[in-house]
Amino acid sequence: MSWDKKSWIEKKVQPHLDLVQPIKNDGETVSNGKLWSLKKEIFIYEYIQPYVTIFRSDKNHFQRWCYFDPFSGSGMYGLQISGQTVKFPGSPLLTYSRHEKYSFSDYYIADGKKKNRDALATRMETLFPKNGLDYHYSNFSESVKYFDTLDRNDDAVLAIIDPPGFSQIPFQDVQQILEFPTVDVFLTVMTSGIQRNLDVPDAHDALTSFFGDEKWEKLGHAENIVEEYKTRLESATKKKIEKIEIFMENQKIYDLFYVSGNAIARKILHYIASKLEKIQLNDLTSIVSMQSPDVKTLFDFEGFNQSEKSP
Ligand SMILES: C[S@@+](CC[C@H](N)C(=O)[O-])C[C@H]1O[C@@H](n2cnc3c(N)ncnc32)[C@H](O)[C@@H]1O
Repeated sequence: MSWDKKSWIEKKVQPHLDLVQPIKNDGETVSNGKLWSLKKEIFIYEYIQPYVTIFRSDKNHFQRWCYFDPFSGSGMYGLQISGQTVKFPGSPLLTYSRHEKYSFSDYYIADGKKKNRDALATRMETLFPKNGLDYHYSNFSESVKYFDTLDRNDDAVLAIIDPPGFSQIPFQDVQQILEFPTVDVFLTVMTSGIQRNLDVPDAHDALTSFFGDEKWEKLGHAENIVEEYKTRLESATKKKIEKIEIFMENQKIYDLFYVSGNAIARKILHYIASKLEKIQLNDLTSIVSMQSPDVKTLFDFEGFNQSEKSP
């Protein structure tokens, strides 16, 4: 059976473009995004429906299924495509846009920058009036205390850990999250940022905090550091971590780790990941340039690989 990559991407990107139309010129702060973020956002959005369906099912006996997004951003990021800025919704908007059918029992949403927290609150109120959510202004380590308030037997959590770099995620905080009995996680690991900082004296302590100790110094390359980081987290938390690698041209930008506490959910994650792995950034550019009402010039999408064999 062949897979129609072009229409798959179109279908996946359309809800993102639609969601921001009412707020795209609201004058609030817009983060500068990069095209490679879009794969991560598609992954998160596509997972909300299966996650909620599985974890609220009576069969799984959870009292609550909670959404944890401690690096929530301002709610909107802009991508430069064919000379225009195209706006996209960030993780909390994407997740909450599904709340009518796929609602979480609780939403913990926070950002370490007040301006982003405030912009997000305004946007959520515009799109989903009277939603009653709280938006925290707090740094990651503070946010992780949320896990102390949860019930380790009866609650399940979906955690989106999406820092701008590696210095914001101390090892013990990530470990605490992964040690929660039923936690599904997306974790962005900025491999390219680690590589750039290996020989920067000022980054030494941040790398040590990220890795958990100074042994990263002996590993030489960011690829080895990230692989060892994954192994360490796995053995500290007894959880299996999967990953997809996000490249731009031939350069690795980041590794996206994902974890699930449910076997069916894991299969679904693998399936989405297998599709995302076949998508080049040029494919996204060409499709967004055709779909977005904000792009006037069509991107020349020579080389677009329309269909591929399914695995
Ligand atoms: C990559 S962006 C998050 C994007 C968001 N997940 C989305 O989908 O649009 C990273 C965010 O982390 C925030 N941030 C940076 N350092 C932080 C920290 N130590 N604790 C919490 N938030 C932090 C930044 O203000 C920024 O909004």
